[in-house]
Amino acid sequence: MTLLVIGGTGTLGRQIVRKALEEGFQVKCLVRNRTKATFLKELGAKLVYGDLSLPETLPLCFKEISAVIDVSTTRSDDVNTLKEIDLNGKLALIKIAQLAGIKRFIFFSILNAEKYPDIPIMKMKKEVEESLKISGIPYTIFKVAGFYQAIINQYAIPILDKQPIWVTKESVPISYIDTQDVASICLKSLLNKRTENETFFLGGPKAWVSKNIIEICENLSGQKAQLKLIPISFLKFARKISRFFEWSLKITERLAFIEILEEKEFCSNSQKLYEIFDLNIDDFLKLENYLEEYFERMLNTLKDLKYEQTFKQRDLKV
Ligand SMILES: NC(=O)c1ccc[n+]([C@@H]2O[C@H](COP(=O)([O-])OP(=O)(O)OC[C@H]3O[C@@H](n4cnc5c(N)ncnc54)[C@H](OP(=O)(O)O)[C@@H]3O)[C@@H](O)[C@H]2O)c1
Repeated sequence: MTLLVIGGTGTLGRQIVRKALEEGFQVKCLVRNRTKATFLKELGAKLVYGDLSLPETLPLCFKEISAVIDVSTTRSDDVNTLKEIDLNGKLALIKIAQLAGIKRFIFFSILNAEKYPDIPIMKMKKEVEESLKISGIPYTIFKVAGFYQAIINQYAIPILDKQPIWVTKESVPISYIDTQDVASICLKSLLNKRTENETFFLGGPKAWVSKNIIEICENLSGQKAQLKLIPISFLKFARKISRFFEWSLKITERLAFIEILEEKEFCSNSQKLYEIFDLNIDDFLKLENYLEEYFERMLNTLKDLKYEQTFKQRDLKV
């Protein structure tokens, strides 16, 4: 089976490409910047130029492809092209996939996207989901709450950098999941008929509130977080005046702001998926272990840097 991965340079995409190659799939990656994607080529993937904001570049990428895994989304610095990438680009992909007779189209959406039609990225995810469902292409949709990797930017780096972390008192439980587990489930779904034309919530085994994540980060880093509590009323006001623009782009990065979405929790039942894949809680990477590994690596790197600097300073004095 030859896969076309769209978004292979991204957080989830790189895990999917790596795992797919390990498992013997032929992998083509649609990339808009070949230099940035060299590491995918080194892993064994073929690179093919395409840009979702330029639909005319897409058809050629589908040559000899049997399944598509779309894990692309607008980068937060591409503010002005959100609609071109996350809506028009995706609708173009679906049309081309129809014509190319693609056997499976896997699309990644956001949990509860349908509840927030006034948030552009949520609205676009829902539109793409609907278009895929009526396309006649065999599809699988995964709706994700958040990746462990997003926690690094949101909590771990600010703690290490001694920067403030903005939180609200009313913390919302989020069922984060590691991208390696997502990659593995995504690839298994390609070979499982029961996942055809299905939509799944894909979350980890436990829902986390920011307080607990911050506690773990503090223990592992040996540093105290500088917490800034923001009143939820202020967030709601800001949300109104900013018309969700910035938030909608950064929503997958800054999941803390999900709190303003008035959710009681940002998790859902993954039971259906666990049953189909015969998974249990122990099959997933635990957040505690993920963070432990991250901090160990970062603290060692910081120690090495300090050591090097001390030597450089001594050299300068001599
Ligand atoms: N991160 C989360 O916590 C989270 C939560 C819920 C759902 N999701 C969904 O999960 C999926 C993967 O998210 P992620 O965090 O792994 O994404 P990511 O790290 O932001 O990566 C985005 C990918 O999309 C590519 N891309 C952006 N614009 C493009 C364009 N014009 N043409 C072609 N490719 C383009 C990027 O390529 P470049 O390297 O060239 O920029 C990159 O490979 C997305 O559908 C996202 O909405 C993520």
